[in-house]
Amino acid sequence: AKNVGILAVDIYFPPTCVQQEALEEHDGASKGKYTIGLGQDCMVFCTEVEDVISMSLTVVSSLLEKYQIDPKSIGRLEVGSETVIDKSKSIKTFLMQIFEKHGNTDIEGVDSTNACYGGTAALFNCVNWVESSSWDGRYGLVVCTDSAVYAEGPARPTGGAAAIAMLIGPDAPIAFESKLRASHMSHVYDFYKPNLASEYPVVDGKLSQTCYLMALDSCYNQLSKKHENLEGKQFSISNADYFVFHSPYNKLVQKSFARLVFNDILKNPSLMGETAKERLAPFVTLSSEESYQSRDLEKVSQQVAKPLYDEKVQPSTLIPKQIGNTYTASLYAAFISLLHNKNSTLASKRVILFSYGSGLTSTMFSLQINEGQHPFSLSNIAKVLDIAAKLKSRHEFPPAKFVETLKLMEHRYGGKEFVTSKDISLLSPGTYYLTEVDSMYRRFYEQK
Ligand code: ACO
Repeated sequence: AKNVGILAVDIYFPPTCVQQEALEEHDGASKGKYTIGLGQDCMVFCTEVEDVISMSLTVVSSLLEKYQIDPKSIGRLEVGSETVIDKSKSIKTFLMQIFEKHGNTDIEGVDSTNACYGGTAALFNCVNWVESSSWDGRYGLVVCTDSAVYAEGPARPTGGAAAIAMLIGPDAPIAFESKLRASHMSHVYDFYKPNLASEYPVVDGKLSQTCYLMALDSCYNQLSKKHENLEGKQFSISNADYFVFHSPYNKLVQKSFARLVFNDILKNPSLMGETAKERLAPFVTLSSEESYQSRDLEKVSQQVAKPLYDEKVQPSTLIPKQIGNTYTASLYAAFISLLHNKNSTLASKRVILFSYGSGLTSTMFSLQINEGQHPFSLSNIAKVLDIAAKLKSRHEFPPAKFVETLKLMEHRYGGKEFVTSKDISLLSPGTYYLTEVDSMYRRFYEQK
C-alpha cells in the first residue's frame, strides 16, 4: 500500500464550556493569567451525561455517516485514551456496538494508554497495519478520546474534553512520511494517575513543562539526523511548512516552537537571519540544563520566533485554545485546526507533528499533504469538520456551575447504581449520552 495515512477525520467535543476570563476572576487569579499567561480562551467539559465512551460513540458514528463508510469495511479499530473508566474492558469494546449491528465483529485492535500519547500509538498501529503483510484491504479507524480534569489549583484551567476519529488507508490526502519519525522515551514522574479512586492526575507542572521541552529537543535532533542520512542535509524549520504540537495550553506551544528556532541556531547559525543570530548569540554557550532554566532565553527566543510562529504554527492553534487540553486528542485537535484554516492551500505541504505523553513518551513525525479525491479530499474534510459551527454552538456555563459539575463527577467516579439526569437539551441530534450505571457497574448509553 502506498501513501498510507489519514483519509478522513471528524471531531466531537461537548457543548458545555467555561470562559477562561470568567474562570480567572472566579479563581481569584490575576487578570490575564489564564488568557495571556497560559494563552487559553475557553475550556469545554463533560457534564454528567457525557464521558469518554459516549464521546467516542458519537464521533465514530458521525464519521461513518458523514463520509458514508460501510461499517463492514473497518478491519482495525484502535483507541487512545488516558481516562480510565474500566481497568480491563477497553473503550474499543463499547464501540463494537456500532459494528456488531452491521454484522462486523472481525475487527482487530484494543486501547493504548500512556498519558496524552495513546492516540499517537493507536495511529501508528493502524498505519503500520495497513503497510504490513497482515493488512486485509479494509480501513483502519483510530479514536482519541479524553476528558481532562484536574483538582482545584493551578492545573485546573488546563482541562478540556474531546473525541477524534481518523480513518486510515492507502492513497490518503494526509500521508505519512514513515521514514521521518523520531522518538524520545524516558522514565519520569511529571504527570501520572496512581490514585485509582480519583480521576485527577498527580502533576508536577513545572517538571512536566521541562520534560516536554527536553523530549521535543531530543526528537527534533534525532529527526534532523535521520533527515541528514536520507537527504544529505540536516533538518531545519525551513524544511516544513507547518509545525503542530501537543497543546496542553498555548503558551507551551509558543515556547516549543521558540525552542526549535534555538535548536536550529545551535545546529547551524547560518540557518537563521542576522538579527536572530545576534539576539540568540549570548545563549549558545549555555549547557542544555541551563538552557531550560533561562527565562531570558525563553523570552528572546519567543520574540525571535514570532514571525515564523505566525506563519507556521498559529494556524494550528485555534481549537486547543478554544476547547482546552484534550490529552490524546490534543495534537489532532491542533492538526484539525490547520485543516480548517488552510485546507485550500495545504496540498503539497509538509507538516511536522510532535506528540507528547507524560511519564514519558514522545514522537515527532512528518505528514505529506495532497488534495485527495472525494470524499477523501481536503475540501470535503474541512466541510465535514464544520469547525466554525461546532465552536459557535457551545453554551457558556458560569464558573460556579463548572465547579459544581466537577464535584458531582468526583462523587460519581468509580460509582455504581445511579441514573443520570438525562438532561440532553444542550446536545445536538446524534449525540450519545450516559443514562445509567447499574448495580453491576454496567454502563448504558442512548443516542439523541
Ligand atoms: N498576566 C499574564 N501572564 C501571567 C499572569 C498575568 N496576570 N500571571 C501569570 N502569568 C504567566 C506566568 O508568567 C507564566 O508564563 P511564563 O511561563 O511565560 O512565564 C504563566 O502565566 C503560568 O503561570 P505560572 O505561575 O508559571 O504557572 P502556574 O503555577 O499557574 O501553573 C501550569 C501553570 C504548570 C501549566 C499548570 O497549569 C499545570 O500544572 N498544568 C498541567 C500540566 C501540563 O499541562 N503540563 C504540560 C505537559 S504535560 C500534559 O500535557 C498534561
